[in-house]
Amino acid sequence: MNRYSVIHIFLFLVYLLLYNEAKQYHAVVIIHGVLTGSDSMELISNRIQEMHPDTPIYNTVRFAGWSSLEPMWQQVEEIGMDVLSISAAFPEGINLIGYSQGGLLARAILQRFPMHNVRNFISLSSPQAGQYGTRFLHLIFPDLVCETAYELFYSRLGQHTSIGNYWNDPHHQELYYKYSKFLPFVNNEINLFNNSDYKTGLTKLKRMILIGGPDDGVITPWQSSHFGYYDNNNTVIDMHDRSIYKDDAIGLKTLDKQSKLEIITVPGIHHSEWHKNISIVDQFLLPYLD
Ligand SMILES: *[C@@H]1O[C@H](CO)[C@@H](O)[C@H](O)[C@H]1NC(C)=O
Ligand SMILES: *[C@@H]1O[C@H](CO)[C@@H](O)[C@H](O)[C@H]1NC(C)=O
Ligand SMILES: *[C@@H]1O[C@H](CO)[C@@H](O)[C@H](O)[C@H]1NC(C)=O
Repeated sequence: MNRYSVIHIFLFLVYLLLYNEAKQYHAVVIIHGVLTGSDSMELISNRIQEMHPDTPIYNTVRFAGWSSLEPMWQQVEEIGMDVLSISAAFPEGINLIGYSQGGLLARAILQRFPMHNVRNFISLSSPQAGQYGTRFLHLIFPDLVCETAYELFYSRLGQHTSIGNYWNDPHHQELYYKYSKFLPFVNNEINLFNNSDYKTGLTKLKRMILIGGPDDGVITPWQSSHFGYYDNNNTVIDMHDRSIYKDDAIGLKTLDKQSKLEIITVPGIHHSEWHKNISIVDQFLLPYLD
């Protein structure tokens, strides 16, 4: 074998490596937002297919439309079972993307089923620290105002809706802790439920990517997409200064210290645009999948 054929073989191997790099990703699971279904996430799934053909994609059809208002735990259990089956089918690992409520469901699935094999998790404008704004609720409850919504949501009935499950009224925290069946648990804010598994499911990720932005207009405060939230004085406290991070209640600090937590802020994007804008997919989703 002469020197040139060695170089050719080497170049061919490099080509193969790069080609495969651009080829298919590990399987991708996608979870839609509230009051929509899998069709709303097709721009993302189509773009992944186009750029990385043969990537297996599972765009969940569960809890579409009105059924997306069913309690969070119920959705976590059912979609979580699908995620576990997909995990089992792809032992080398999978990717998980959730938009809006779907990103909060996705995160709770990771914590509830720490035996998953999700590599990269992307939360696309999701109320990870809760929601205290009625913009998107007006479709369902036209007369609802923030200040009194707690009366509805912090009740047994209100907890039968997904939105009630992550309603986080900074002025009625006692009621939040008393009634809310979901968010204080997944955020490990309640001693009773101090469950180290809730950390394992996140700290085993290769990467967690939190995307949000100041012009979202629906997620309130928008920093909730980055685990920031109001104190009882309507001041938004950054994730790094909140106990969920400082006490490493769910593993955010661990991920951050290992440079596995990406916080991405994109201005100029309304809530209804994140999953409809191809440039968002190209710039902020594709680079974090593998
Ligand atoms: C959770 O449990 C651990 C160990 O049992 C303890 O160190 C930690 O303070 C507890 N966290 C909370 C919020 O109670
Ligand atoms: C509440 O916010 C106001 C205005 O930002 C500030 O002057 C005040 O000191 C804050 N109070 C507390 C207890 O943080
Ligand atoms: C799409 O996203 C890009 C940023 O990635 C932004 O500049 C552009 O204005 C967005 N387009 C729409 C229609 O929102």
